[in-house]
Amino acid sequence: MNKLITFEGVDGCGKSTQLKRVSDWLRDLGHDVITTFEPGDTPLGKEIRSLLLAGDFVPVPETELLLFLADRAQHVREVIQPALASGAWVLCDRYSDSTLAYQLAARKLGDSAANLKEMLVFAECGVRPALTLWFDVPVDEAMRRMMKRAEAGEKATRLDDEAESFHERVSFAFKQQFDDNASGRIARMDAAQGMDDVEKQVRDVLKQRFGLSA
Ligand SMILES: Nc1ncnc2c1ncn2[C@@H]1O[C@H](COP(=O)(O)OP(=O)(O)O)[C@@H](O)[C@H]1O
Ligand SMILES: [Mg+2]
Repeated sequence: MNKLITFEGVDGCGKSTQLKRVSDWLRDLGHDVITTFEPGDTPLGKEIRSLLLAGDFVPVPETELLLFLADRAQHVREVIQPALASGAWVLCDRYSDSTLAYQLAARKLGDSAANLKEMLVFAECGVRPALTLWFDVPVDEAMRRMMKRAEAGEKATRLDDEAESFHERVSFAFKQQFDDNASGRIARMDAAQGMDDVEKQVRDVLKQRFGLSA
C-alpha cells in the first residue's frame, strides 16, 4: 500500500502543526514515518526553493510553475519514492494540489488547461498520494495566524507576501479541487477549529481510511 499523505491548504491553515502531530502519533503507534515538505527538501531543491521564495527574483508565472515542478520531480525520486519503498509513512507538507492552486489557478495560468495538468502528473513521477488532508480555513483567519507567526519571528516567503486577493484565489482553488475529487482522495478538515479538535479530525480520517487503531 502507498502510504503517502499530503497536507494542503493556504498559508496559516495549520499544515505544519498537524503534520508534526500526526508524525508523533504514528511513531507512538510504532510506525516508521518520514516527514518532508515542498519546495526544498533535497540539496538541489534547497537551491530551487531559495530561487523561488527568497524574494531576490520575481519569476514570471511560467518559470515559477516549472521551478516548482523541477523541485517536485527531484523530491519524488530522491526522497519520497525511496521512503515509500522502505514501507514508511511519508507525510508531505504541500504537493501537486498546491501547485494547481497557486501556480495555475491563482496566477491565472490556466486552471482548466489539460496540458498543464499533465505536466503536474509528469513531475509526480507516478507517485500519487493515498490521502490528502485539506485544511480548510477562512483566509482572514489564516492571515491572522500568519501575522502571529511573523511576530514570533518566522520569516515570510515571497508567496506569503502576496495580496489577500491572491490568497482568496488560492483558497477557492483548493475548495474546487475538493468539490471535484470524485475518488475521495482529498479529505476536508475544518481547520478553523482549535488545534486539538483539528488533530482529532485528522486521526479519525486516518483511522477510517487506513484501519489504524488507538
Ligand atoms: N487550529 C489552530 N488554531 C489556532 N492557531 C493555529 C491552529 N493551527 C495552527 N495555528 C497557529 O497558526 C500558525 C500557522 O500554523 P502552521 O501550522 O504554521 O500553518 P501552515 O503550515 O499551514 O502555514 C502557527 O503559529 C500555529 O501555531
Ligand atoms: Mg507550514
